[in-house]
Order: sequence, then C-alpha cells, then structure tokens
Amino acid sequence: MSFQTCGEKLTTMSEQQNGNLQDQPWAELKLPELLFTDPVRGVHADVENEWDLLRQSACQIAAGRALWKHVVHDPLAELLAGEAFLRGFYEKIKKDRLNNAQEVSGVILAIRTMWFDAKIEAALDSFYGGGAQVVILGAGMDARAYRLNCLKESDVFEVDFAEVLQMKTTIIQAATESTNYCQHAMTTAKSLHSVAADITDHDWLQKLQKSGFIPKKNTVWVLEGILYYLSHSNAMEVLKIIADSCTIAHTVLLADFMNKPSITLSSSLFHFYSDWPDHLLPSLGFSDVKLSQIGDPDAHFGLLHDPLNLFNKLRSLPRSLQTHPDDGTPCCRLYLVKASGSPN
Ligand SMILES: C[S@@+](CC[C@H](N)C(=O)[O-])C[C@H]1O[C@@H](n2cnc3c(N)ncnc32)[C@H](O)[C@@H]1O
Repeated sequence: MSFQTCGEKLTTMSEQQNGNLQDQPWAELKLPELLFTDPVRGVHADVENEWDLLRQSACQIAAGRALWKHVVHDPLAELLAGEAFLRGFYEKIKKDRLNNAQEVSGVILAIRTMWFDAKIEAALDSFYGGGAQVVILGAGMDARAYRLNCLKESDVFEVDFAEVLQMKTTIIQAATESTNYCQHAMTTAKSLHSVAADITDHDWLQKLQKSGFIPKKNTVWVLEGILYYLSHSNAMEVLKIIADSCTIAHTVLLADFMNKPSITLSSSLFHFYSDWPDHLLPSLGFSDVKLSQIGDPDAHFGLLHDPLNLFNKLRSLPRSLQTHPDDGTPCCRLYLVKASGSPN
C-alpha cells in the first residue's frame, strides 16, 4: 500500500479493487479557463508555494472529488483544487489505469463524500421541524453549502484556518463573476458562516458562537477528513465538546476514523486513530452509534463491483486483526461513523 506525501490514504490503496477500470471516464483532463485568470491563478500559486501540507490537503481532496465527478456532484471542486493538484491526481489515476490496478485512486474519497452527503440529508430529515444547524470542522474546500439542497433550511458554519477560508472565498467570488460557474456559486444553504479558527485552540467554540452558532439548536456536526490530523488529546477534546452538546440539543456527529495500521503506515501528518470508535463514542456520551466500513451496503454506491475486492476481504476479517492472516499486510481501515445523542 502506498501513501501520498500530501493528502490522505483515501486517494491510494492501489492494490484494492474497483471493478472495470475501462468503464471509468478519465479519458483526458480538461482544465476550466477560469483557473488561468487572476486572481484564481494567484491564490493557487500561494497554496502551492506558501501553504503547509496540512492546509494543502484541502485542495488535494477537492481534486479527488473533481476527478470523480461522474459520481460526485461538486461543480466547484475543480476551481477549488487548482491546476497542480488536479494534474497530480489525474496522473495517479492515469497510472492506475495503465497498470490495470485493481483500484483507481480516489475511490475511497468518492465513497466517503457520498456517504457524508447521504448521512447529512438523513440527519436533517430526522430532526422534527427541520432547520438544524450544520457545523463543518476542518471544512477545507467542502462545497456542500453550494451544492446540497437539503441544507436550504440550515445555517451552515465552516470552521478552518483563516487563510484556507480566505482562499476559498476568493475562488468562489471569481466563480460568482463567471458565466460558466455563477449558478454553482450560489449557496443552497439558508446561510453560510466562515469561522476562522484553529480547533486545537481553546477558543474555537466561542468563535463559533460569535459567528451565530446557537448551542441549544439541533446540530449536525461534520468531521470529514479531519480527526486524524489532530493529536490524540486534541481529537478527544473536540469529540468531548460535541458529546457534551448532546445534553443541551439534539446532536448528530458524522465523522471518519482511521484505525491504527492506517496511521502507522502513513505520513507523519496523521496522529489520532481509533480501532473502536463505536466503543469510544458511547463512552463520551453519545447514545446511538452506527459504524460503516467501505464496501458496507451504505458505503458502496455501486463503485466496488468485484465481490472479491479487498474491502470485502477486510470486512470479513475480525476488526481486532491488525494484519492479514494470508499475507501479513496491514489491515488499514477507514470507519465512517454516525453517532447521535439528545437531552432525553
Ligand atoms: C483533508 S482536508 C479535509 C477538508 C474537508 N473536510 C473535505 O473533506 O474536503 C483537512 C482540513 O482540515 C483543516 N484543519 C486541519 N487541522 C485543523 C485545525 N487544527 N483547525 C482547523 N482546521 C484544521 C485543514 O486546513 C484542511 O482544510
């Protein structure tokens, strides 16, 4: 299993399977003209030259979503990703196809995106009376506030580092002024609030509240591709804060967790892991936890055609196993978890 220096393992795991590669529509990379205009080119130059790998991971993930556009609806992703990350990701996909790899880079990312989309919609539907708040921690280039109609009654809060949110605003402003993109650059959410904060600092919750977040209101928390970038203590602190909110409002947490072998193999960007998030979260105060793995019925989306793909092999092995009994390779798992809680 190989890992990228920037971004997540979700974009690699090239020995895993994804059915018929010739069916996949990546014939050529077409870059939108808007990417080559100022100020779009300028902000992407800053991302490439001045940002660290942590912040750049936001563009890396957007590139993956842009290149899986035949299954992921995210029209702004290519603009938010930028040329360098699009080209880099495209080359990986091209190599996978040339090598007839069992998996095309990005399939896990595509499945993860669709899982979060579906669970956000289901969570919002489950709240009696609708209109729950949605908080996206480590929002990066997440464009759900522009693409998900289910957010039309929700105030959405995007939390990330100031420079990441500023760059995103610049790109979306440019999209607003472009005839090709303006219809995609209108928010589908009721309102959108950018909250510049480091979630390892003690004041991020206060900053969120200053931006209009109301603790007593029903809330969906979206933690996609963020927890494993934090230290163990920081990740636990964030999870505890969200768990505590269950005592004052109906709360749904949607998060992905890497297990220990995934962290051990990957770059030093990753720290926090949990082999048993379905045990951890109840111990923090969540009352209802549902864990899925890639390939499960709700985390499949028709992208894993071969019944013998390695995701299914992994799912058939006990979760306590850290290495495959057949070949000794690490059992790298990504858990997609929904947890909830309420005052009653
Ligand atoms: C891999 S990206 C995922 C972005 C987005 N959730 C998605 O799935 O497209 C991780 C994001 O977390 C942000 N991030 C990492 N550590 C953070 C921290 N301590 N405080 C705020 N944001 C952070 C990064 O800036 C980056 O945008």
